[in-house]
Amino acid sequence: MTASLHAFADSLDGARRLAAALGLGCHTVALRHFPDGESLVRVEPAPGTAILYRALADPNARLVELLLAAAALRDGGAERVVLVAPYLPYMRQDRAFVPGEAVSQRVVGALLADAFDAVVTVDPHLHRTPDLGQVLPGCTAVAVSAAPALAAGLANMVAPDTLLIGPDAESRPWAAAVAGALGLELLVADKQRGGDRAVTLALPDAGRARGRPVLLVDDLLSSGGTLLAATALVKAAGARSVAAAVTHCLAGAGDLARLADAGIAPLLAGDGVPGPIATIALAPVIAQALRQHRLC
Ligand code: R5P
Repeated sequence: MTASLHAFADSLDGARRLAAALGLGCHTVALRHFPDGESLVRVEPAPGTAILYRALADPNARLVELLLAAAALRDGGAERVVLVAPYLPYMRQDRAFVPGEAVSQRVVGALLADAFDAVVTVDPHLHRTPDLGQVLPGCTAVAVSAAPALAAGLANMVAPDTLLIGPDAESRPWAAAVAGALGLELLVADKQRGGDRAVTLALPDAGRARGRPVLLVDDLLSSGGTLLAATALVKAAGARSVAAAVTHCLAGAGDLARLADAGIAPLLAGDGVPGPIATIALAPVIAQALRQHRLC
């Protein structure tokens, strides 16, 4: 089956890297907004498999535009429409924490599963729903690990005595994978969240950080509260320096400035969400997954 790749203008850098890794051209999805705020998308005709790529930070309008683009690709002759969304939004609200709340993961998952034949994403935040297939019923669901990409991006900048710390129990899978790839000692902290920005961490073995470089590894950087708390903890324990790497950075400029002021350097992220610290290319691991699952 022939394949083509289509991307919105806000996601072109990552999409072009993926297109190059797959040996495909990259078509831009034309997008305009009507005076009333509604969106209009236009796509190139695409027989065979159409891969639609979009970074999905700030997702509300983007999700609607994705659904429009998927339908337009099918109308244009696509036999199979594959979504590549390196960051999959709304995965954290996986239950009603307070009665009456929407279970956003289930709602958004059903919407995407209905529109796409396959969804490929990187390190989805699936803590109480371990299988992405459950979130995307009836759809081919591929969760790619960023660990090989993060390890490759970090390989030349970590000293052998670096202590790698996952800031909470949920971070263990990717923190362990990066620590294993780089041959680093791993500790995992225990996190309590009191609110969107209120985070406290406990690390009984924090003394292991004394005099050593520390590398924090997590899937998401959102408000930065988790990395700030981890940095305070290891600095109090005598860490020589603190660096951090995350799969996806959703933080704005103010929060990134607070992390820099706290002394986290370097601070790196995968390029699935464009931004100033998104320097680690996820295209190689995504391309490998697309080939492995015969989606391109
Ligand atoms: C939580 O379980 C995630 O793995 C991240 O630790 C969290 O989303 C980071 O959020 P923030 O930067 O707001 O602390």
